[in-house]
Amino acid sequence: MTADSDAPTRSVRMEDLVSLCARRGFIFASSEIYGGINGFWDYGPLGVELKNNLKARWWQRMVRERDDVEGIDSSIICHPKTWEASGHVEHFSDPMVDCKACKKRFRADQLEGIGKCSEGGAHDFTDPRNFNLMLKTFIGASEEAAATAYLRAETCQSIFTDFKRVREAARQKLPFGIAQIGKAFRNEINPRNFTFRSREFEQAELEFFVAPADREKWFQYWLAERFAFHQEIGLRPEHLRQRDHEPDELAHYCNAACDVEYLFPFGWQEIEGIHDRGDWDLTRHTEYAGKDLSYVDDQTKEKFIPHVVETSVGIDRTTLALLCDAYAEEDLEGGDQRTVMRFHPALAPIKAAVLPLSKKLAEPAEKLARDLRKRMNAYFDVSGNIGKRYRRQDEAGTPFCVTYDFDSETDGQVTVRERDSMRQDRIPIEGVAAWLAERIEG
Ligand code: GAP
Repeated sequence: MTADSDAPTRSVRMEDLVSLCARRGFIFASSEIYGGINGFWDYGPLGVELKNNLKARWWQRMVRERDDVEGIDSSIICHPKTWEASGHVEHFSDPMVDCKACKKRFRADQLEGIGKCSEGGAHDFTDPRNFNLMLKTFIGASEEAAATAYLRAETCQSIFTDFKRVREAARQKLPFGIAQIGKAFRNEINPRNFTFRSREFEQAELEFFVAPADREKWFQYWLAERFAFHQEIGLRPEHLRQRDHEPDELAHYCNAACDVEYLFPFGWQEIEGIHDRGDWDLTRHTEYAGKDLSYVDDQTKEKFIPHVVETSVGIDRTTLALLCDAYAEEDLEGGDQRTVMRFHPALAPIKAAVLPLSKKLAEPAEKLARDLRKRMNAYFDVSGNIGKRYRRQDEAGTPFCVTYDFDSETDGQVTVRERDSMRQDRIPIEGVAAWLAERIEG
């Protein structure tokens, strides 16, 4: 399914979101002062916090809370044979056509709505040719074929090549998984929809190794877990769905796949894939590396190549889904308007902003902000009238604003304003950190 095939029913306009992201420092074009570079994005102060919170939550759920999953952090460039074994050198390509007149290159399956040739009239296309999506580099001083290496196209291949080492080091038995979060690179022909299709992006992947007979059971288990995760981080259930892959869409390593899709302003699109990779990867690496990656069941003494159920989520795509889901424009009483990012408090980049009502109160208020920072990402803002400061925090998605006023000096209390309801509560200063923590994590 392409982005344009399913009519969008969302009210958020991408241009409004993209503009807010740049203005408020969530996400903007990489190398912006040079005009940007297509398919590459930078995360600013708010964006990096949002993305880090998402990654931390994934790691917490997928690694820390489980004794059957181990984490790793592997190198981005690995032995080039890895990509021959994985099938990426042979199969990881998109069919491309070139226009003989304007020399532009397009994906052959995405020609609908591409517009006219800049040389006039219709494009004059070549026959489709396969174009490999892996980004190449060279190791050392030589630029010969022998020195060619690839920036990884998916993070999971190192999990397969590290499988034996990690299993033995961590003394794991089947079923168990290895997880990692990291950068992946694809030379996408047509990067588009903001960060949705980028050339450099982050994935969070779990490869769960199981006995062949248990594949289907674990596939269903991980599909349910991962679908629940997206709701837990605050994405609205009506904006999420599952979609099984048709046999002709399956990647070369896949026996079955189900996508978790999110309803972006440009239509339903994949944010995560749950894949039954069978024994493809470990069998191929056994063959190409000449190392035995089989497993012996210590009960039955049966020797076999473990099968793999994979969960592979795009961190950038999920961050984009969080941004789309959070964005709201609201009319307020008195004809006022606000743009508010309604992030789940646990994912919000800033948890609390401390705002002294007057510059004269800056010192004790700043002390409160410093104390809060030991437990959460707190912000201090003394400039502008209080209404403007609230609006700035609404746009940043800060769930709580703590106002320090002249009464705080005598009654030892502050006013906490909740972002979505704008409800205000008066609470003791010494209890603020616990009060906030309970609501952020709760
Ligand atoms: N290891 C399996 C794998 O890489 P994939 O479906 O190709 O599977 C998994 O990618 C996830 O990575 C996708 O669901 C998506 O969220 C993210 N992803 C893939 N290509 C991307 C791109 N060009 N830009 C941003 N995210 C991408």
